[in-house]
Amino acid sequence: MAKIISFGIQKGGAAKTTSSGIVAHLLSKKYKVLAVDLDSQGNLTELLTQQDIYDFHGRTVLEALMERDARPYIHPVTDTLHILTAEDLLATFPRYLYTEYRGNRSLVLRETLETVRDSYDYIIVDTPPALGDQTINALSASDAVVIMFETSKFCYSALGRFIETVGHVQDMVNPDLKIAGILRTIVDVRRSDARAFVELIEEEYPGMAFDTVITRKAATGRLTIHGFKENPELNQALEQYEGFVKELISRV
Ligand SMILES: Nc1ncnc2c1ncn2[C@@H]1O[C@H](COP(=O)(O)OP(=O)(O)OP(=O)(O)O)[C@@H](O)[C@H]1O
Ligand SMILES: [Mg+2]
Repeated sequence: MAKIISFGIQKGGAAKTTSSGIVAHLLSKKYKVLAVDLDSQGNLTELLTQQDIYDFHGRTVLEALMERDARPYIHPVTDTLHILTAEDLLATFPRYLYTEYRGNRSLVLRETLETVRDSYDYIIVDTPPALGDQTINALSASDAVVIMFETSKFCYSALGRFIETVGHVQDMVNPDLKIAGILRTIVDVRRSDARAFVELIEEEYPGMAFDTVITRKAATGRLTIHGFKENPELNQALEQYEGFVKELISRV
């Protein structure tokens, strides 16, 4: 049965998509992986498929959620990496939840993934930059959450509130949810304030930060342009994440 792992933080641009996409790619070298794009921006869809998000119109995670069945909507990226895609219309998911849906609004993703959980080793969920219904559904469906921390004051402010939200989900719907850890990303090593934030996380949240710190690197940033196939700097882009994946597997 698949371990379900979400990547989240309500602050935008904290490498949720980059990290969840790289982790899904790296895990799929050894395991069977389903990536789930829960953000209507469709960035994970674009990153992993290198296709236009509208190519998947009408065959996305939104339709899967509305039917509570992932099976008809899974697209293969490779033999071992599959994806539930997203496009703009996923933004209508909350409207669907509050007007048509009659069950527990937090558990729709969990029910949707139940139908395919036995077919994968890992299910990796990318979430949008908000503490809204998609993020709550991701947390409610997950065994573990990786909390993204990009070294800025705004992300630092978001962190405590995200952890509080995880606590609410644990109390209300998913007592099995674990915080896998805090992943410090896009760290500009030349900046003293960034280095200070890296240390502050260890002091404020002892034992929670992953040892691996992901630094700002052009090759990793450019992954959005080149993707995972025929990318001459792929090894450089993924390098730091190899250690992180080892840590993640051992923690979940
Ligand atoms: N280690 C890195 N080095 C350099 N650039 C990076 C790195 N990680 C991510 N980026 C870049 O930072 C930007 C934000 O990353 P990404 O889209 O993964 O964040 P996100 O948290 O998913 O954003 P959103 O909140 O909009 O969903 C992207 O342009 C990405 O290419
Ligand atoms: Mg994103």
